[in-house]
Amino acid sequence: MERLNLDSLRTIDSIVDRHRGEPGPVIVMLHDVQDSLGYVPFEAMEKIAAATGTSVADVYGVVCFYAQFTTSPKGKHVINICLGTACYVKGAQALIDETVTLTGAEINKTSEDGIFSLDATRCLGACGLAPVCIIDGKVFGNCTKETIVAEINKIRAAEKMA
Ligand code: FES
Repeated sequence: MERLNLDSLRTIDSIVDRHRGEPGPVIVMLHDVQDSLGYVPFEAMEKIAAATGTSVADVYGVVCFYAQFTTSPKGKHVINICLGTACYVKGAQALIDETVTLTGAEINKTSEDGIFSLDATRCLGACGLAPVCIIDGKVFGNCTKETIVAEINKIRAAEKMA
């Protein structure tokens, strides 16, 4: 397992210290770690468990239960594709396949270059627009392969300029 850098460890320590003794500290600490680092590393789970008298397994269980927490760093650009029933029926799987091919990111993983994360989500509550994708927070209803290709190309072009 890759070791965390000192800054990240200090960030975790200060979050744990800040919330020690508060009610429901596990969730609050996890939330702050996710916000600060973009994910919850295993070291954070260990520190939170030690500070709250919980087992690492229980903290890990909380991380897995809530979709807002992730255990690996997200890419710079996040592509969410809804795999709820309505979106699935309207061809969401093909959008996922296209995204995997174009970005190299597998479902719920990040591409090796760290640029893209691909998340398959449950129903986003916009079934009338199926299939629905959210790319860097922007919602695309009636999403097509062409939409995916165009947006990924835009991101790649912007990354080259950066
Ligand atoms: S199934 Fe995709 S928005 Fe509802």
